[in-house]
Amino acid sequence: MKHSINEQGVLEVGGVDVTTLKEKYGTPLYVYDVGVIRKNARAFVETFKREGITAQVAYASKAFTSIAMVQVAKQEKLSLDVVSEGELHTALKAGFPPEKIHMHGNNKSKQEIEMAVEARIGCIVVDNFYEIAVLEEVLEEKNEDMDVLLRVTPGIEAHTHDYILTGQEDSKFGFDLTSGQADTAFQYLSNSERLSIKGLHCHIGSQIFETSGFLMATRKLFDIMEKWKTNYGYIAEVLNLGGGFGIRYTEEDDPLSLDEYATALVREVKDQSRNRDYPIPEIWIEPGRAIVGDAGLTLYEAGSIKEIEGVRTYLSVDGGMTDNIRPALYDAKYDIVAAERMNETQKRQYAIAGKCCESGDMLIWDADLPEISPGELLAVFSTGAYGYSMANNYNRFPKAAVVFVEDGTHQLAVRREMFDEITRFDLSLE
Ligand code: LLP
Repeated sequence: MKHSINEQGVLEVGGVDVTTLKEKYGTPLYVYDVGVIRKNARAFVETFKREGITAQVAYASKAFTSIAMVQVAKQEKLSLDVVSEGELHTALKAGFPPEKIHMHGNNKSKQEIEMAVEARIGCIVVDNFYEIAVLEEVLEEKNEDMDVLLRVTPGIEAHTHDYILTGQEDSKFGFDLTSGQADTAFQYLSNSERLSIKGLHCHIGSQIFETSGFLMATRKLFDIMEKWKTNYGYIAEVLNLGGGFGIRYTEEDDPLSLDEYATALVREVKDQSRNRDYPIPEIWIEPGRAIVGDAGLTLYEAGSIKEIEGVRTYLSVDGGMTDNIRPALYDAKYDIVAAERMNETQKRQYAIAGKCCESGDMLIWDADLPEISPGELLAVFSTGAYGYSMANNYNRFPKAAVVFVEDGTHQLAVRREMFDEITRFDLSLE
């Protein structure tokens, strides 16, 4: 996110200073710069357009979903990837066109499948044989049919900075390519009266910085597509290459631009199509983090400060692993600033602690900040993906509010949870 700082040295988001946001909405607070969400979405959409490729950019709503967020995705003409009834419910409630929704999941329940069929969503990404059987049963009962993509595991496991080729598949998702599972599923789907196989899907990982893993996966998928073309005369209409495009959290991260990721995919798909004399398929992608990650930041108020001489100084904030579990879960790194004193030079190191009763509730171990006093406003950058969506009520902290900011205006997108909502499922003893 490009940050601006006003004359008072206060951080501004989307043309609004964070002091205003703190005063109006309180802390901890997730703040999204909607202009950045739009810019990210357009970077993908416009690259495909420029390359003359028919594409669907499906926002992976697991990264952050709410009614307002789905509405932004709709305005930007994105498609939507959902993985549960809850995400589908949110999408439908927000008025998202069902034909542009596709559904994932390695253990879709019959109820989820029924909901997807009733809503007439665009396509289901089938993941396993059990699911295919349940899906057919539901379609039979409802006298409907459904387009599907076949999810395969291409034997590439991408990690943050590298990728490895796994000889033997080991993933709970999708059909294995090496054992013949994918072939069996394909043959079954081709003969199904109710299911129509539109193409293939793979997703190789998340927060990936290089294109090589994506390109290897593309080649592997083309291998199987070419085989099915030769053996069965089948031509895939759609090639869905999943999400996983990495973003910058700190200076150590060195991602490509979104345009570069998309261009690399398009070029590889075109090359493979040309070399194999295969009609160019539609390219679908499912970015989550790359759409919302750098569009969000979290505001916290500084609280207690504990200095352990010669070791470190703990600076606690009014949130933590309840609003951002990523540092505790993945050792994820973030940058923090004194949001109302942006022009001050950094003077000292703090370990930024959350307020949960758990030693592992640390947001940042080595933050450089000016001398901080309790009550000061702090901002952690790039918390837009998998922050609110993975928020929880540990220690019964209410979930923080979400604010959308754009062109100097701000509005609540999700209001702060209230204590009575925390106890809403609790029953008194009889
Ligand atoms: N498509 C599929 C099938 C996926 O499983 C995922 C993410 C995506 C798309 C979107 O990936 P993205 O573009 O956001 O990297 N909670 C973790 C990330 C888990 C990702 C799970 N699947 C985190 O906080 O880093």
